[in-house]
Amino acid sequence: MKIIFATGNQGKMKEIREIMADLNMDILSMKEAGCDVDIDENGTTFEENALIKARAIASVMTDAIVLADDSGLEVDYLNKEPGVHSARFMGEDTSYDIKNKAIIDKLEGVEDSKRTARFVCVIAAVYPDGTETTVRKTIEGQIGYEIKGENGFGYDPIFYVPEFGCTTAELTMDQKNKISHRGKALMAVKEEIRGKFS
Ligand code: IMP
Repeated sequence: MKIIFATGNQGKMKEIREIMADLNMDILSMKEAGCDVDIDENGTTFEENALIKARAIASVMTDAIVLADDSGLEVDYLNKEPGVHSARFMGEDTSYDIKNKAIIDKLEGVEDSKRTARFVCVIAAVYPDGTETTVRKTIEGQIGYEIKGENGFGYDPIFYVPEFGCTTAELTMDQKNKISHRGKALMAVKEEIRGKFS
């Protein structure tokens, strides 16, 4: 059995290969599978967007397990925005330095207990028999008061995790993958696949 992951992002491919290595299945990116479809992520939930991507690939790759993820940052004080708009927030080409500063500014004067936020990751799976599933995993944290840390990407420098006493941009990649929304969702999907094919 082959797994195709609907992404062009090499970082995500590395993470999924590491986590799913013990399934002993071939894991291919869309490009490696020779699949080039343009997908419009126009859903209003992470689940819808992940399913839109997985279904689009599954419609042309019918003999593989197709996985697709959708993720983002929910800030409770901002009514869970940027949410599904995380990549597009303030424009796709705007730097994360600017986006992160803007979120800190929007929370100016807001007390700790109201700064709660989470990274969400939904992974959709479409199986060769047509079965569809989604898993949602989160990591809970708070919006910090300043930009801190050099690791990670996106909103990591403002995402403070109280248990670790630092932002996710101050964790190593291994530390972050063990506790992150995406790491946990990939582990859950791995167990789902193992359950179906062993
Ligand atoms: P996508 O799931 O690749 O479309 O990612 C959506 C967006 O959510 C990213 O571009 C980031 O802005 C944000 N995001 C998702 N996961 C993380 C994370 O682990 N750290 C920081 N930002 C994230």
